[in-house]
Amino acid sequence: MHKLKNFLISPIGGKVLMALSGAMIILFLVGHALGNLLIFSSQNSLNTYAYWLQNSPMLWVFRVTMLLLLVLHSVLAVRIYFQNKSARPIQYEVNTDIQLTLSAKTMIFSGLIILVFIIFHIIHLTLGWMPTTSFEVAQGEKMIDVYANVVRGFQQPAITFLYVISILVIGLHLHHSIKSLFQTLGFHHLNFHQVIDLLAPALIIVLSLAFISIPLAVWFGFLSLPVMQ
Ligand code: HEM
Repeated sequence: MHKLKNFLISPIGGKVLMALSGAMIILFLVGHALGNLLIFSSQNSLNTYAYWLQNSPMLWVFRVTMLLLLVLHSVLAVRIYFQNKSARPIQYEVNTDIQLTLSAKTMIFSGLIILVFIIFHIIHLTLGWMPTTSFEVAQGEKMIDVYANVVRGFQQPAITFLYVISILVIGLHLHHSIKSLFQTLGFHHLNFHQVIDLLAPALIIVLSLAFISIPLAVWFGFLSLPVMQ
């Protein structure tokens, strides 16, 4: 137990925890993107899916877990950032395995932007503190019109712009995260790295397109609100 505690508070333990929490957040993103794509199926599909999520007995377990993962990931990121900063003059403490790409150099800043985006996104669609979001339920119905909330939101150019930029920043953040994640977890084989070098960009492109397609579809008029009879 003592050994485990020492490992977790050590720099390498911190990196492992960061990699594992990051991997779980990526899994959430994949699930969230797939769920969101139901918007292209029909208004009712997305609303039924959202209704099912909101009424799931696991909703709060899931929310608390995600919040803890996000806090853990962010706190460790700041710790590693300052550790690396103070270790910079000492050559052997610098990770030379991963090339310092734009993505790697900007991890802490992209992470901060993502954090601000998540807060805004929860205010926008979960809490509904925006004039474009309404939790009113039509008479005789029991479902919130999540479809209308999403479409009305993305009919505002500023909101669409903010989402598109944030999703691109998420892509940039993931570009370094996925490689670094496998390296931290000990996947060092050259063949494995070649596979990851191909699969990671593919996953990031598909994920970013899945998210971005929604604001853009509203913007270009492929998704709209039904005309009231
Ligand atoms: C166009 C892109 C996106 C759309 C249309 C979208 C849609 C939604 C909607 C409708 C909700 C509210 C769900 C509900 O309360 O039932 C939600 C919640 C959430 N979204 Fe997104 N989302 C998008 C992108 C993202 C991204 C990129 C992230 C992460 C970086 C994210 C993270 C979250 C989180 C953490 C919640 C709160 C979950 C909860 O209410 O328990 N979303 N999203």
